[in-house]
Amino acid sequence: MQVPSDDEIRALHAKHAPTPEAFDRVYTHCVIVADIAGRLLADSNSAADPALVRAGSLLHDIGVYRLYNAAGTLDHAHYIRHGVLGREVLTEEGLPEALCRFCSCHTGVGITREDVRTQDLPIPEADYLAESEEEQLVMFADKFHSKSEPSRLVSAPTAADRLRRFGEEKELLFKTLLDRYGEPDLRPFQERYGHVLV
Ligand SMILES: [Fe+2]
Repeated sequence: MQVPSDDEIRALHAKHAPTPEAFDRVYTHCVIVADIAGRLLADSNSAADPALVRAGSLLHDIGVYRLYNAAGTLDHAHYIRHGVLGREVLTEEGLPEALCRFCSCHTGVGITREDVRTQDLPIPEADYLAESEEEQLVMFADKFHSKSEPSRLVSAPTAADRLRRFGEEKELLFKTLLDRYGEPDLRPFQERYGHVLV
């Protein structure tokens, strides 16, 4: 599979971002997630493909751009849709399924068909679960940075607390990944980006 380069992915973000502010917020988050995932992978005995992990990290939130209105305001109420929207963006761009999936399966620690039903989520009823090791790593790394205003780095205890709100099984799944990959050192990102750690 042809994995797009960092420059090609940056150009895709620039093409789909509705405003420079949206680009800055989403693309910076994706770069941080890519760097966190890369470090976790390097420190693990995982056989995941580093190029695929990086491209998947850089692309995973590209669907967020479709949630901005003409005035540049993000539709928070439908934020959960950004995964399926991202998958649509990448499919339209002709990217392979293996890359499109990073968009649709990174939210939380995965969304089940039952979650869609019981929480009445505004997405088609299906399982949106990270399956490959690359998908799991991107999903896990994503939990350590938030695009909230202002953007924040998120410690493992805070990430676990956030996931617990969606059910104990979500927190447990996160802790399984934490046991496997460890907690990333977020201090270099604090220094480089000036984002607080919560
Ligand atoms: Fe993300």
